[in-house]
Amino acid sequence: AGHTVVVDSVEYDFHLLPSGVLNKKAISFIGNGVVIHLPGLFEEAEKNSQKGSGLQGWEERLKISDRAHIVFNFHQAVDGIQEQLRQQQAGKNLGTTKKGIGPAYSSKAARNGLRVCDLVSDFSVFEEKFRVLAGHFQTTYPNLNIDIDAELEQLKGYAERLRPLVTDGVYFMHKALNGPSKKILVEGANAALLDIDFGTYPFVTSSNCTVGGVCTGLGVPPSHVGRVYGVVKAYTTRVGVGAFPTEQDNDTGDLLQSRGREFGVTTGRRRRCGWLDLVLVRYAHMVNGFSAIALTKLDILDTLPEIKIGITYTVDGKPLPSFPGKLTICYTFSYFSHITMQQ
Ligand SMILES: *[C@@H]1O[C@H](CO)[C@@H](O)[C@H](O)[C@H]1NC(C)=O
Ligand SMILES: *[C@@H]1O[C@H](CO)[C@@H](O)[C@H](O)[C@H]1NC(C)=O
Repeated sequence: AGHTVVVDSVEYDFHLLPSGVLNKKAISFIGNGVVIHLPGLFEEAEKNSQKGSGLQGWEERLKISDRAHIVFNFHQAVDGIQEQLRQQQAGKNLGTTKKGIGPAYSSKAARNGLRVCDLVSDFSVFEEKFRVLAGHFQTTYPNLNIDIDAELEQLKGYAERLRPLVTDGVYFMHKALNGPSKKILVEGANAALLDIDFGTYPFVTSSNCTVGGVCTGLGVPPSHVGRVYGVVKAYTTRVGVGAFPTEQDNDTGDLLQSRGREFGVTTGRRRRCGWLDLVLVRYAHMVNGFSAIALTKLDILDTLPEIKIGITYTVDGKPLPSFPGKLTICYTFSYFSHITMQQ
């Protein structure tokens, strides 16, 4: 997912690089829960290196888990085809970023995905598995054009650049947690409501965006999870399709969008905007158990004469106790007969 990070007035756009890579005293680590598109990673590093001096020496400060899965170019092509098919068949797409994330996690779950450790080991073995995986997608999507040899050639080059960064991720985290005392900050991607299990399925990403991702995505034992900070904006935004009960599809939403400069970092899409939805915040807290909340962008609301906050979802006059799991009806926005707003 995209993160904009501003350091010394220089604005960096990160998708795969951890934000901490700008801190020259910190070691950054990409865990096994991340799926990595190698051309994307190195292009991102080059592009951001031209913006300021923040990334200087990044290759000495970045470690990558040997267990992280790889996103191939054909995963990205498949992402585009799948979105097109969803649009044709059901008249609605998921609004994915077409970065190949979903298809790469599908390969991971289907157990024919390839990992960083495969790429930096015996290349002929990797090549064989790569051809099988590419063949699988070609059979599924006859219109898919894969230049297998060209991609293999490209990957061979990346394998060399990648090798010095690769580490045994589980052992790395174990040493970090049990060695000399240090501060460890875990950065996740996306938002709780985009989590594959707890989000507004199917309008979600394919990975774990809630606190459990710290354990599964890094190999950190639950007993080591310390304080959990919920970061929540003073209003609600959503990029792409999906239910959004407090959305203000009018001047108010436009004001939040423009004053808050709400554009997706990865796609540049305008984010949909609306009032803060406390039903969602409470739900996110049930799953994550925040120790504290960082409420951001309150100043964006400064010019508004009145601010509203969604507090309850009501169906047939009865308030729902929590955020509901079933979203098929709610997708049409008729599920919530109304939202109680409090000034
Ligand atoms: C995240 O969630 C999925 C689905 O529940 C699970 O299969 C996967 O192993 C989890 N962890 C990571 C790191 O993706
Ligand atoms: C703005 O739009 C939302 C729906 O998107 C609606 O509920 C709300 O009443 C509108 N507000 C005004 C001031 O028109």
